[in-house]
Amino acid sequence: MAIEQTLVIIKPDAVSKNAVGDIIRIFQEKGLKLKALKMTKLTKEDAKKFYIVHKDRPFYDELTDFMSSGPVVAMVLEGENAISYVREIIGATDPAKAAEGTIRKLYGTDVGKNAVHASDSPESAKVEIPFFFSQLEIVG
Ligand code: CMP
Repeated sequence: MAIEQTLVIIKPDAVSKNAVGDIIRIFQEKGLKLKALKMTKLTKEDAKKFYIVHKDRPFYDELTDFMSSGPVVAMVLEGENAISYVREIIGATDPAKAAEGTIRKLYGTDVGKNAVHASDSPESAKVEIPFFFSQLEIVG
């Protein structure tokens, strides 16, 4: 078992539903440690950069419009196998297909407005964490 860090973003839909506290509580109750936390608002350019791996997908413009449409809350979570564990807790990309009790089932609206993002691999986490946080801000 490896101790890993992963990046989670609470997306504008879940922020506007006042679900930030509930979502952080779910992660903490499941044993994940909060290492860094901030609320921010991405520009369209920021969102395009963050999701650059999806640049050729048909939903890239919709996704980056949505992600820059309102405040987001970014955090770094740490724990054993945190990358796959957090992906389990958030559920499938499409909330309609997500398992009962997962964050996307509880708070997501559709495949675009799906409440949260989480790093999908150690390689992604290595790029995504420094996108939002400097080393000085990862303190928990
Ligand atoms: P996320 O985990 O943030 O990573 C990429 C995002 O693209 C994904 O969650 C979805 O919100 C979004 N996405 C994936 N497929 C579609 C789609 N078919 N239409 C709109 N957005 C999508």
